[in-house]
This record gives sequence, structure tokens and C-alpha cells, in this order.
Amino acid sequence: MDLTIRIPRPDDWHVHLRDGAMLEAVVGYTANRFRYAMIMPNLSHPVATTELAEHYRQRILNAAGDQSAGFHPLMTLYCSSNLEQDDLLKGHETGIVKAVKYYPAGATTNSSQGGENILDFIELFETMADHGIPLLVHAESTNTEIDLFDREAAFLETELHPLCEQVPTLQVTVEHVSTSAGVDFVLEHSRVAASVTPHHLSRNKSDLLTPEFDPDLFCKPIINSEPDRQAIVDVVTSGNPSFFLGTDSAPHPTSEKYGEQAKAGIFNAAYGLEVVAEIFAKENKIENFSAFASTNGAAFYGYEPSEDELVLTRKQVEVELASTLSTSDGDQVVLFGIDEASHWTVSLP
Ligand code: DOR
Ligand code: ZN
Repeated sequence: MDLTIRIPRPDDWHVHLRDGAMLEAVVGYTANRFRYAMIMPNLSHPVATTELAEHYRQRILNAAGDQSAGFHPLMTLYCSSNLEQDDLLKGHETGIVKAVKYYPAGATTNSSQGGENILDFIELFETMADHGIPLLVHAESTNTEIDLFDREAAFLETELHPLCEQVPTLQVTVEHVSTSAGVDFVLEHSRVAASVTPHHLSRNKSDLLTPEFDPDLFCKPIINSEPDRQAIVDVVTSGNPSFFLGTDSAPHPTSEKYGEQAKAGIFNAAYGLEVVAEIFAKENKIENFSAFASTNGAAFYGYEPSEDELVLTRKQVEVELASTLSTSDGDQVVLFGIDEASHWTVSLP
């Protein structure tokens, strides 16, 4: 039997839209479905000032064109020694800047201007706490002596926990939570929430590494073990308000995914919602899908849910879907989640 669900138009609380030809090629996938989108600032030239954020926002809206109706990019600033507190406060007051994103230097794509230790920025974070500006954290240690699969837990213990103790009023999001340690951390800290990706909910490290390494599943933080995946699925499908959808959609051209060194990032803006809906349906928790995709994140960031509605239908018959997109520069990007999405139709009536 077909299953139909109606949810408030969802929000994507973590997305990379890139710039130029890639932005033009990918923005429609996000703008066509989502209401708010928290835009990551890790362009090759990081978005570190209010002016850069304002210009980037305009480029996003221009690229979305007709598809921008009902779609609102929310801008973030890149936390680095170049970030100026006065500029941040001005950007936040005028409504252009919604949050600050912290990257450990070297942890992922375009993170070289990130921090060595999150505690180095404690004065900035105290000011942000005073002004109600959320901190979004890529929580992954860059210590090469720590096993790759333990690096989220290590960062949380050695950097984020001390920060939360020292600035208890700071609103913090553990972005793309990838382990049971991350889930526990959120449950143990009252001002902390987590965004969760479709790929960390639906794949494990065996999918990534067997029968051979799959560059299309390579992202940071790395997709972790099956017990980690199950812990994330359990807390998310329970409807817990501290967990919400952030796709971490991060397109890279196939030339850079399949080259000498695969770039980290999975493009899931096209089918990520279907992948998540499939998880909730399989767990018999479809009644909590709306909380995860449409209301928990909005409540955490101080917004009402959308009054528009999105309708998802799961059909027994499979539909044929595109598996790649092309940019005007001739690049190809692989679309994640085609198997799940082939069972679903999604519309904004
Ligand atoms: O896999 C990832 N890709 N993780 C990130 O944190 C950044 C992203 C990107 O920008 O490609
Ligand atoms: Zn990201």
C-alpha cells in the first residue's frame, strides 16, 4: 500500500552550496524543497565577514532565480583569527548573520583557516553567548595519533566539553553527529543539539570500505560503525527535540572524487529527504519524521515551523531517477540516495 505523509516544509540546517557554476547547478535541489538552509561558509575564500556573507547570500538567491520563492538562505561566518567581533555583532543585529561555524584546521574541505583548538576562541564565544549567537561545530580531532573513527569522541571530550563547561550559556550544535559518543554528548549537555545527515543515518563503515573504498561515501566526519549508526537512528526516530536534519550536502565533481585523493563530501540535496523518510518508515516511526525534518531545528534556532506543506508518498513501484548532474563547466556530480528515492515522490503542493 502507498504511504503518504504531510509535513511542514522542511529546513536544512547544514548545507554547502559552493559558488559559481557548481552553485548554479546545485542550488535548485535545496531551494525546491527546503524553507531555511543554514549555509556553510567554507568557500575557497572563506565567508568571514558580514559583507562577504551578504554578497554570497545574494549570489545564492540569484542562482536560485524563480526557485527561490519560499526559500531562505541563513548565513554563517567562518571562525578564524580573521573574524572580527564587531563585524559579527553588526551582521547578527542586522539579521544577515545567523551563526558562526568552527572548523578544526585541516579536518575537512577548505578548513585550513580554521582553529588549532576551539578554546582559543573563548572570548569570542562568551560574546556570542551574551548575544544569543549559536556556534556550529565540526567536532572532529585532527590529532593523527587518534584513530580516525575515534576522532569525534576525542574532540568532544578534550575540546567541546571544556568549552561547554566554561561558557554554559552558549548555544552549540554538534554538526553531522556521527557516533554514539556524539549522541551521548548531546543528551548530557542542555544547550547542545546536533544536526544529522542522511548518510550517517543510512550507511556504515562497511558500506564505505567494502568490497572496496567508495569515494561517493567518503565524507568528514567519516561514516562510522553499525552500532554508531544505530544509536543515531534510535535517538532521531524517537523524536528527541535536540536532533534535526542537516544534510551536509557537499558536492564535489567526479574528477575530484575519483582522483588521486578523494575529496570529502556527499551530494545529497537531491534525494536526502527520501533517504531519511525511508529510515523512519523502516523503523515504524514515520510519525516522528516531521519533528526531525521540520520542527526540532526550527525550535532550536527560534523559528516557527513553516506554514507551507511538503507531501511525500512511498510507492511500491519504483520510478527512474537521474544518478548524476552536470554543471555548465562540464563537471559531473553523483547524486546520493537513488535507491531509496526511487520509491518516493516528493512535492510542494
Ligand atoms: O565531507 C565533508 N565535506 N565534510 C565537511 O565538513 C565539509 C564538506 C565539504 O565542504 O566538502
Ligand atoms: Zn558540512
